[in-house]
Amino acid sequence: MRTTLLMRLFVVLLFLLQSPPRLISKELLQYPLIIVPGQGGNQLEAKLNKEYYYKPLKQQLEYCRSGMREDGGKWFRLWMDCSILEIPPTFQCFAEQMQLHYDPHLDDYTNAPGVETRVPFFGSTHGFHYKDPDRLNQSIYMANLVKHLDQMGYKEGINLFGAPYDFRYGLAGDGHPSKVGSQFLQSLRDLVENASKANNNNPVILLTHSLGGLFALQLLHRNSPAWSRKFIKHFIALSAPWGGTVLEMLIFASGNSMGYSNINPLMLRQEIWSLESNRWLLPNPRTFGDKPIVVSKDANFSASDIPKFLNAIGCSDCVHPYESRIMPMIERLKPPAGVPVTVMTGYGIKTAETLVYGDGGFEAQPEIVYGDGDGLVNLASLLAPETEWYGLKQLEFLKVIKLPNVSHEGILKDDVAITEVLKEVHQVNSFVMTSSA
Ligand SMILES: *[C@@H]1O[C@H](CO)[C@@H](O)[C@H](O)[C@H]1NC(C)=O
Ligand SMILES: *[C@@H]1O[C@H](CO)[C@@H](O)[C@H](O)[C@H]1NC(C)=O
Ligand SMILES: *[C@@H]1O[C@H](CO)[C@@H](O)[C@H](O)[C@H]1NC(C)=O
Ligand SMILES: *[C@@H]1O[C@H](CO)[C@@H](O)[C@H](O)[C@H]1NC(C)=O
Repeated sequence: MRTTLLMRLFVVLLFLLQSPPRLISKELLQYPLIIVPGQGGNQLEAKLNKEYYYKPLKQQLEYCRSGMREDGGKWFRLWMDCSILEIPPTFQCFAEQMQLHYDPHLDDYTNAPGVETRVPFFGSTHGFHYKDPDRLNQSIYMANLVKHLDQMGYKEGINLFGAPYDFRYGLAGDGHPSKVGSQFLQSLRDLVENASKANNNNPVILLTHSLGGLFALQLLHRNSPAWSRKFIKHFIALSAPWGGTVLEMLIFASGNSMGYSNINPLMLRQEIWSLESNRWLLPNPRTFGDKPIVVSKDANFSASDIPKFLNAIGCSDCVHPYESRIMPMIERLKPPAGVPVTVMTGYGIKTAETLVYGDGGFEAQPEIVYGDGDGLVNLASLLAPETEWYGLKQLEFLKVIKLPNVSHEGILKDDVAITEVLKEVHQVNSFVMTSSA
């Protein structure tokens, strides 16, 4: 009797120890899955129209128009096309065409004049397998994860869907319009309802990466708890920058060459300043407190001093929209009502924590003091729900999974991390979950 029971336990254990993707029978996948990628994760297409053609431009940008007909050009991939980013002159065209403009009369953001954009492949994951489909091995994003989900039984257009978006835009606090971001949330809501309807009215699992998690949380806040209970089974947020990231202050101050050694990082600074989503991702006082993040000869800046910092680096136009639109939205990090959440993140990778500027001012690259995080986002930000949500009564359920040595995008690519993600999706589909917080 005893032995049989032990044997049985052993068999069960063996069963559980096997690599999780393989033990999932397809019938067990009850809940459709919708993936929301992070900032820069999905492709974005653009078309230049007449207004762009006639607009007075700086001399060196003259040739960004070459190949354009007067009646407007063709759609092309604005993000991401490595071949454009590699050469300084075309990089400059890219930097200009990506920019957003804040219109104080509309109190909203628009594209640069003459630039039309669209997000291809809404509804599917195709737009974010690779960032640049012409450079597969340089730009893999979710291809591995999607392949493993497919092996697990998640089929594109049946029970697997994707929600790419124009990641340059963001959202704003109550009373402020955000046309593009709000339209995305509406499309995402429709996609959730459609996916559920197509799957026996079962609720949906939202699986997000990075900024996608911030949008998903807003989706849940901006719909009723009754809607969430009906349509959302679980929210799995990978590497979400809940409290922003210090690195954002670095690129605001000193630009970003995106890893290309022949590109002057300052070339992208105007573009970085202009993106609404970048402003959303600046470090948040809730998470970073009053500790100086940027240390310079004349002044130090903490996350509470972002308006002062924006003035100091020369982005004074950023201040008003930051104060009026972003600050009210990030004041508190509310849990979603009626939705169980799993927060998954890597840690143990050195991540910029303090930026020390010397005589060269903000236009020179700073000395970086590192702390813990996933290489891109600081650990305190990645784990903000653990510190801020615990004990709140709206919180339905929170589980936090920390993966050592896993980077911000490694969570989508490393075998060990993918296995953990699949395990979580599997648990949501089959077991009663237990909360760790
Ligand atoms: C990856 O890209 C590099 C550079 O373009 C190329 O030399 C290499 O063969 C590619 N590798 C694979 C596996 O495609
Ligand atoms: C949802 O389904 C309706 C009806 O089939 C369709 O018109 C709409 O485009 C779908 N929307 C999304 C976002 O999938
Ligand atoms: C900025 O912070 C550094 C390190 O904490 C400190 O030594 C320095 O005096 C501060 N500078 C100013 C201008 O407050
Ligand atoms: C992280 O990786 C480093 C280098 O590969 C290794 O030495 C270290 O043991 C790893 N740490 C963990 C917690 O896995």
